[in-house]
Amino acid sequence: MNAISQTWIRIGKLDDIPRRGSRCIRNAKMSIAVFRTVDDRVFALEDKCPHRNGPLSQGIIHDGCVTCPLHNWVISLETGLAQGADEGQTRTFPVKREGDDILLSFGTQK
Ligand code: FES
Repeated sequence: MNAISQTWIRIGKLDDIPRRGSRCIRNAKMSIAVFRTVDDRVFALEDKCPHRNGPLSQGIIHDGCVTCPLHNWVISLETGLAQGADEGQTRTFPVKREGDDILLSFGTQK
């Protein structure tokens, strides 16, 4: 059998993150920014802009995107892709809500 399952980690409550805000989670390799939109959707991206590694967690959240605080690139929260004429992509992570809990996955396990 070749079953691949996703490991979910409970990282906190929805209200731990302000609307249009973020909270950083760190693992051994990187910092991950978990964003909450004005309509309570949650997204998780590596806290690193594809331009010059700016801290996306400190950016402004709007229209399903975050604007990097360093040079104003706009990054999609859903895909991590730079918008407009800019090119690059930030790594995204699966994140979901179970009631008020937020669960994050760092990847898959075999
Ligand atoms: S580092 Fe993000 S726009 Fe330059």
